[in-house]
Amino acid sequence: MWFDLEIRQRLILTFVWLVILLHGLLTGLGIIPIIIEYHLGKRTDGHEYVPETTLRIRRKPYPEGSPLLTMFTTLKDRKCRDQIHNSTMTNWATLMPAMLPVLYVPRVEWNASRWKNRARDLGWRVRKAEKLKRKIPILNDMFRQTLRQSKTPFVGFANADILFDETIIQTLQYLIRVIDVDNWTILITGKRRNINITQSDVGSGGNLTRISFLARETDFFHGKAQDYFIISRRGLPWEEIPDFVIGRNGYDNWLLVMAQKWNAIAIDGSLTIGALHQSGVDGFQSGFTTNDNDTIGLNWDLVMGFNYHRGRTECLPYYTRYRCTDHQDITESWKKRNDIVLLQRPLYPHPDERYQGLGPKC
Ligand SMILES: *[C@@H]1O[C@H](CO)[C@@H](O)[C@H](O)[C@H]1NC(C)=O
Ligand SMILES: *[C@@H]1O[C@H](CO)[C@@H](O)[C@H](O)[C@H]1NC(C)=O
Ligand SMILES: *[C@@H]1O[C@H](CO)[C@@H](O)[C@H](O)[C@H]1NC(C)=O
Ligand SMILES: *[C@@H]1O[C@H](CO)[C@@H](O)[C@H](O)[C@H]1NC(C)=O
Ligand SMILES: *[C@@H]1O[C@H](CO)[C@@H](O)[C@H](O)[C@H]1NC(C)=O
Ligand SMILES: *[C@@H]1O[C@H](CO)[C@@H](O)[C@H](O)[C@H]1NC(C)=O
Repeated sequence: MWFDLEIRQRLILTFVWLVILLHGLLTGLGIIPIIIEYHLGKRTDGHEYVPETTLRIRRKPYPEGSPLLTMFTTLKDRKCRDQIHNSTMTNWATLMPAMLPVLYVPRVEWNASRWKNRARDLGWRVRKAEKLKRKIPILNDMFRQTLRQSKTPFVGFANADILFDETIIQTLQYLIRVIDVDNWTILITGKRRNINITQSDVGSGGNLTRISFLARETDFFHGKAQDYFIISRRGLPWEEIPDFVIGRNGYDNWLLVMAQKWNAIAIDGSLTIGALHQSGVDGFQSGFTTNDNDTIGLNWDLVMGFNYHRGRTECLPYYTRYRCTDHQDITESWKKRNDIVLLQRPLYPHPDERYQGLGPKC
């Protein structure tokens, strides 16, 4: 024993203070939560936190309030869809400036479009979709054009009938904190929640509290269809992506499977992003979607023999969810909106149905 008692006590006290100071510093810099998550490693519920390699802390955080996402859409002008499209216009405009909305009007409809001015009045940017197939805009082209003409760290596409609440922004803000987004190809998608606008009143679409409430109360649609895609600026290998048209089946599942082949960080955002799909009296179709037999197979024809089953939302390797406290399960944490965490999917099928990792092996 080479110290007397008093000196030892002082040393211990100094050490404790140092630890407290260091903790304060690391927490302030946003480092602590990440280190804690990583060291937790394997959790008892079988879910693992993402490996260290993806947890790169951005050295230059994006300034508060600067735009995070440029979100584009396009729609087929049909009077019966006016109410739905109008709600979407207002809803997306309400998420500005964090989300910048862009409307693509097909070249052939440009002169007649009733939505150009409405969108501009609400603060949207309006652009012409030049390259069309059977008068339908091509996804690949719109993505590339949007990336060229915007500076946001994320660029996304969503169908014109999808309403979002603030959770889409909060999820991206979280991801930008834990992943070096400039250096990774990230793809985020999620399941939608269907509401029937003749039964659920979304109002103008601009009351985000209302949208958030409806999103919390509404169940998921299945994971075989995705209605929105958000990618980081690094983009995708566009030359490998065929000229898919939007609003026709097939391309969404293909993108999900290929994103993993391209080593993208492919994230299922269903459990944190509220995405409401509006349907009305004419069923679940909107935007460009139709059952038009002539064009229904346009995308299928491009990627014949593809295993669509593996392109379900719940097959993505990563997912976001709200942190569950000791007494909460996942449904409750979704309603309470705790902190967001990014997790790696466990093996399939997950025994716990609440994790939505349902169905056979991907
Ligand atoms: C959209 O809503 C606005 C405001 O309520 C209204 O003035 C406009 O006529 C609507 N547009 C369409 C195409 O329904
Ligand atoms: C749209 O209007 C321009 C001039 O205003 C005209 O040159 C062009 O042919 C029109 N396009 C269509 C598709 O009607
Ligand atoms: C980007 O990530 C790769 C690994 O995927 C790494 O080798 C490279 O140094 C990173 N570049 C920057 C600028 O962070
Ligand atoms: C927005 O919606 C919430 C929940 O439905 C409601 O309580 C609130 O009054 C609405 N706000 C406005 C301005 O309409
Ligand atoms: C929505 O509700 C209306 C009336 O309640 C009904 O006629 C319509 O079929 C419903 N639409 C869908 C897609 O369920
Ligand atoms: C599309 O094809 C289905 C079955 O092949 C047929 O029942 C339906 O009437 C067709 N629809 C149109 C609009 O031609």
